[in-house]
Amino acid sequence: MSYDGNGPIVLGIETSCDETAAAVVDTCTHVKSNVIATQHDLHRIYAGVVPEIASRAHLQRILPVVRESLTEAGVTLSQLDAIAVTNRPGLIGSLLVGVSAAKALAWSLEIPVIGVDHIIAHLYAGLLDEEPADFPAIGLVVSGGHSSIFHLQSSIDCELLGKTIDDAVGEAYDKTATILGLGYPGGPALDKLAQQGDDSAHDLPIAQLGRDSLDFSFSGLKTAMLYAVRGQPQKQGNSHVFMRSADDLTPQQIADFAASFQRAAVTALLRKLKTALDRYNVSTLLVGGGVSANSRLRSELTELADKRNLDLRLPEMQYCMDNAAMIAGLASEKFKAKAFDDWSLTASPRMQPTVAGRIEA
Ligand code: KG4
Ligand code: ZN
Repeated sequence: MSYDGNGPIVLGIETSCDETAAAVVDTCTHVKSNVIATQHDLHRIYAGVVPEIASRAHLQRILPVVRESLTEAGVTLSQLDAIAVTNRPGLIGSLLVGVSAAKALAWSLEIPVIGVDHIIAHLYAGLLDEEPADFPAIGLVVSGGHSSIFHLQSSIDCELLGKTIDDAVGEAYDKTATILGLGYPGGPALDKLAQQGDDSAHDLPIAQLGRDSLDFSFSGLKTAMLYAVRGQPQKQGNSHVFMRSADDLTPQQIADFAASFQRAAVTALLRKLKTALDRYNVSTLLVGGGVSANSRLRSELTELADKRNLDLRLPEMQYCMDNAAMIAGLASEKFKAKAFDDWSLTASPRMQPTVAGRIEA
């Protein structure tokens, strides 16, 4: 261990879902390497992540990915100050692969292991390779598994203000893309197509859940899309079947559906975000998660930040999706606060609430 007080050199490991990732970060935000092995090809035919397949693939990939991240960073194991790992929330079998690898490495090197929350780490992605941000801040996480709003006193001191009560926004994107025949994961394809469509072609529902609520709901939007594209199911014998599919639509009609969906999804996110910003006096807006790569969301957020004079931290494209640089970065802040874990560190499918409604980073 060579820690000199300027910010540690941390190896991060991420295996919470379907990307096996490792990264080396020093002085909290300087990314020296960022290696990601995606499993999309393995899960595509199922149109979703199969947990058992994901864990096995992590096991095969974890050591080569860690090795590559060290080589790319030009850092040896003996130069590391700590090992960081996503230990929650996520698929339990997948998380356990990363946690076991991180503990074994930290134990053998006699350096600390630091478990971090994957969702809060997404909010750190916009700080990587950038100047530090001012706090307090509002944070919006939009991914395949989560849609949440936070109030942050620092990057490691967060309060959950609202979350989705059903589907995550990325999940709604992926399911809608499947309905439109765009493949998996369809978020990026739907985003691209939406840019050629008429976003007022279809009036789709935007859930409110009460004016004061900061929760989201995207399942109604997804179901409305299903019926709009495929029609009402008709009774045939003992079952109900759809009489239409996306194959019956012209390319322009598909683009119009994509654009209308995108308008409704982004409007739903912006409405709740504005309510949170009205309620809390902050100068910084942190955004992260796979859907933060979305073109319409990025441009509406930029407009909102300009109007409200906010320091908007949108991650670079390479840090929007699951990656280990954000894990190592957030863990570096925990390192500075001496928030280490011990060998009892384990994985959990859920976030970890602490006192006074706060969430452990
Ligand atoms: O953060 P992430 O890599 O994984 C989770 O933690 O869930 O997010 C993946 C999600 C997928 O649902 C994917 O379709 C979505 O992010 N996504 C997008 C775009 N790029 C990725 N959704 C909308 N527009 C995009 N450009
Ligand atoms: Zn994620």
